[in-house]
Amino acid sequence: MPSIQRRHLFSFLLAAGVASASGAGCYGGAAGDGGSAGGGGTADSGPDPWSAPVGCASGAHYVGGANSRMEPGVACVSCHTQSGEGPVGILGTAYASAHDEDRCNGIAGSAYGDAYISVLDDQHVEVAQLPINAVGNFMGNEPASATYYVALVANGQTREMAMAVPSGDCNSCHTQDGAVGAPGRILVP
Ligand code: HEC
Ligand code: HEC
Repeated sequence: MPSIQRRHLFSFLLAAGVASASGAGCYGGAAGDGGSAGGGGTADSGPDPWSAPVGCASGAHYVGGANSRMEPGVACVSCHTQSGEGPVGILGTAYASAHDEDRCNGIAGSAYGDAYISVLDDQHVEVAQLPINAVGNFMGNEPASATYYVALVANGQTREMAMAVPSGDCNSCHTQDGAVGAPGRILVP
């Protein structure tokens, strides 16, 4: 198993705070909290994947154990840092639906053309591909460059996070409802 670098909790908190301040305009007010149940649809666009209901697309949940399939959807690095155990670096979960609940298993990477998280350095050159396992979880090291980017590649299609990654604790922002400006889960393209 590859060694995974340790990162101090303070750097995560700092990064999250910065993201909170700078992420406010990302959605131009469209990052609604999904409260409206029966709004009139927009005729000129397809179904919005971010308006999916809360649920569990895979229909399967975490069954316990501390391993690479643990706690899908929950902030991995925060817990590992607090408990002083478990890998840190880049860890998170990819989903087929935007608002799947905590501990709902994500996509099986193998069912999406060996889906992976592409890690890109500050020049947008890919430096790593983190495979997505049977419950949607992925993990790996943060790259050497202070600034880096990520994208989810599934079935040959890409969904890229526009801003630089503020923290490798992906699920801390990509929660069921979305936190710190994120629209929800890390969603397949
Ligand atoms: C609520 C706390 C908590 C959360 C959330 C959590 N973990 Fe862990 N994890 C632990 C603890 C504690 C250990 C160490 C347990 C042990 O070694 O017995 C651990 C260990 C691990 C290990 C190492 C297992 C080994 O054999 O050495 C992996 C891999 C792992 N976690 C992946 C993840 C991933 C991926 C996520 C998020 C999707 C995650 N964890 C979320 C608490 C957590
Ligand atoms: C501090 C909060 C935060 C963290 C941590 C974070 N993200 Fe994001 N993510 C966002 C925000 C906000 C957006 C939407 C704006 C953008 O794309 O820059 C986003 C967008 C995305 C998207 C594109 C979604 C779309 O609109 O199509 C992907 C994919 C993604 N993130 C993956 C990741 C991965 C993988 C990680 C962990 C390495 C991660 N994110 C960590 C906040 C975060």
